Amino acid sequence: MKLVFFDAHEDDAKQLATALPDVEAVTVSETVQDQITQAADAEIISVFVTSEITADMLPKMPQLKLIVARSAGVDHIDMEACAKRGIVVTNVPHYGERTVAEHAFALILALSRKIFQSYERTEKMNFDREGLMGFDLSGKTLGVIGTGNIGRNVITIGLGFGMKVLAFDVSPDKELAKERDFTYAETLEELLAASDVVTLHVPYLESTHHLINKERLEQIKPGALLVNTARGGLIDTEALLWALQEKKLAGAGLDVLEEEHDTYDRIEFLSQDTHQTNDLMTMLRNHVLVARTDVIITPHNAFNSKEAVQRIFDTSVANISSYVAGSPQNVVEAK
Ligand code: NAI
Repeated sequence: MKLVFFDAHEDDAKQLATALPDVEAVTVSETVQDQITQAADAEIISVFVTSEITADMLPKMPQLKLIVARSAGVDHIDMEACAKRGIVVTNVPHYGERTVAEHAFALILALSRKIFQSYERTEKMNFDREGLMGFDLSGKTLGVIGTGNIGRNVITIGLGFGMKVLAFDVSPDKELAKERDFTYAETLEELLAASDVVTLHVPYLESTHHLINKERLEQIKPGALLVNTARGGLIDTEALLWALQEKKLAGAGLDVLEEEHDTYDRIEFLSQDTHQTNDLMTMLRNHVLVARTDVIITPHNAFNSKEAVQRIFDTSVANISSYVAGSPQNVVEAK
């Protein structure tokens, strides 16, 4: 069986040869969209979120039977098109719930204690504290949207900081709320109006596209912080810029951006001649966000700890082995 392992790191080839001795594994450091010809005869491909798999790419991989996503979210893969072709998609549901939760708090603390502005100053040997006053997290309300694997770890950390936690989820876990001593808001609007820090931990689906839009930002507690380590498409970037400009929000911490791939790879994006005006506008707005001092952006790096990356690799290898053995695990169904 041939496996093409896209978005590969330096030592992946060595690790794969040891972990999957019976599989012919080829590692490719680029994305599948950039190097699709490498997978022309592959039965298995493995991809990170930087690889996007669209319906029109599938005929170029006629032997493909299994896509091993090295991520929890699979919104970079056209799941419906895969289901139609009978291609199995697996993910890594548990690898970094604490890892991503810690990153969300890194963003929260960086904003609440103005770490970035402080660093910029001291780097220039300027030790003036003027304008660097932050605020305590202790006693403030943390609004957690989505109380799945990551959200519940964010709740634990928030409670550890002495924060009051208000949560919202379409399937609330009332037992967890009792056990950990936090409250579920009846509506998203109730959470937004009451929280000093709002953090997003829901998947990106059609139903969650622009979950945070202008209407909802109008209802947010004035001066709140908004943190997004889930997916860029959950927030309407135009509305976010408006809320920051109007000082409805005191700041935003973003590990993910709408259309982040285009923003990361501007040269590639600008070399295509079929742009949607919306995509161009989002890319432009992302540039404005980057330039703002009340916004901290990290490059989809929340998952990227040594321990989490090893867990992703180990589970992906186990997903391949179990598929080859005829009993696939961590299969994601199209929604
Ligand atoms: P999960 O599936 O364990 O939890 C998601 C929760 O969101 C569930 O409890 C679900 O009921 C809830 N939910 C779904 N739709 C909702 C809605 N409209 N309103 C309120 N709640 C809703 O997912 P997990 O593992 O906690 O991950 C969350 C997201 O974080 C992933 O989908 C992924 O996109 C993102 N992620 C980002 C990473 C990064 O490096 N930045 C790394 C890993 C995940």
